[in-house]
Amino acid sequence: MKTDQLKDKKVLIRVDFNVPLDNNHAITDDTRITKALPTIKAVLDAGASVILMSHLGRPQKKLNDDGSINVEKFTLMHIVSHLSESLGNDVKFSPDTIGPKAFDLSLSLQPGEVLLLENTRFEKGETKGDEDMAAMLAKLADYYINDAFGTAHRKHASTYTVAKYFDKENKQLGLLIQNEISSADRVLNSPKRPLVSILGGAKVSDKIQLIEKLLDFTDYLLIGGGMTYTFIKAQGGEIGNSLFEIEHIDLANELLAKAKAQNVEILLPEDSVCADNFAADANSKVCPSNEIPDGWMGLDIGPAAIKKYSEVIKKSQSILWNGPLGVFEFEKFSNGTFDIAKAVADATDGGAFSLIGGGDSVSAINKAGLDERVSFISTGGGAMLEHLEGKILPGIKAMDL
Ligand code: 3PG
Ligand code: MG
Repeated sequence: MKTDQLKDKKVLIRVDFNVPLDNNHAITDDTRITKALPTIKAVLDAGASVILMSHLGRPQKKLNDDGSINVEKFTLMHIVSHLSESLGNDVKFSPDTIGPKAFDLSLSLQPGEVLLLENTRFEKGETKGDEDMAAMLAKLADYYINDAFGTAHRKHASTYTVAKYFDKENKQLGLLIQNEISSADRVLNSPKRPLVSILGGAKVSDKIQLIEKLLDFTDYLLIGGGMTYTFIKAQGGEIGNSLFEIEHIDLANELLAKAKAQNVEILLPEDSVCADNFAADANSKVCPSNEIPDGWMGLDIGPAAIKKYSEVIKKSQSILWNGPLGVFEFEKFSNGTFDIAKAVADATDGGAFSLIGGGDSVSAINKAGLDERVSFISTGGGAMLEHLEGKILPGIKAMDL
């Protein structure tokens, strides 16, 4: 990132501060804030002032009964004190995203000062990529930086359209996005081999495009999570009451055949930890994944699968992980995810490069206390998937407009 041209400039930075909050509006995982700090600090150190903007949640989808915005729930005010503390700088807050208050506060901002605008999604124009909203945001600053990787797959006013109002010399990508791109490159372009991809999560349908793309370059594909059972069912297994997507049975078979044709070793868990109910206190037992009795459902990969997957992970030189392997929020069904996290950390200690993305896998790594022992934690869920699928993300493309 170049900063020598930023002295005395007002720099508008799109960050992704869409962080999880508890019922008291306290931040439960601040990864996205921490990871945005280097860019903000570099811009401040260059003698500029900073105007930050982000969305938080999906406020337009959860309006109050009278149609107004639920400000109490979705205001970015909730993160101001945490941000000020992390940054070591008293962050000012504009209760407007655009409009007179945002304009006046931006205008009076001095070099070294930071202003945070209210939730960009309080404006209806944000998700529509509205030109008027983008023009008003652009009026606040001399320079634009996009560092919101988690939202870079959205073509919104603050992530995409606004960039059009700055010429090429007055906009760039931030450090967080640059690091995300170079980390993904280490997996996508001539990775150290073997490369293992670990995919979990509930649905095959969310991961189809990624699986297809991965088959072109991964050596191993380890499957876990709810999507396992669509594959097992496709192969004629008995899956009891496990989650599966009937409409994707054929596709699952096609993916398995394609993997074989391309010499990719695709592994399904040979055993599962099954539950008689979707609940933390359900009864549980280990069953072969293709012999799950009626009334039972697979909620985690079993001990034999953990052993096999860990062996593959430990002999790999590059590791890509997206999606938990079981319902790790329930302790009884968390071993798969946490043991695989441990195997990934051990392999990384042994010299492998590991890239982890997707909100749930990141929170599993954090919960296991292993975040320092993996190579790179992505701040993107959907954005990371789309980037790995080979799509050009609008937030990145906007820099060339
Ligand atoms: C996310 O957490 O997925 C990003 O912040 C983007 O949010 P969105 O999925 O609501 O667009
Ligand atoms: Mg999302």
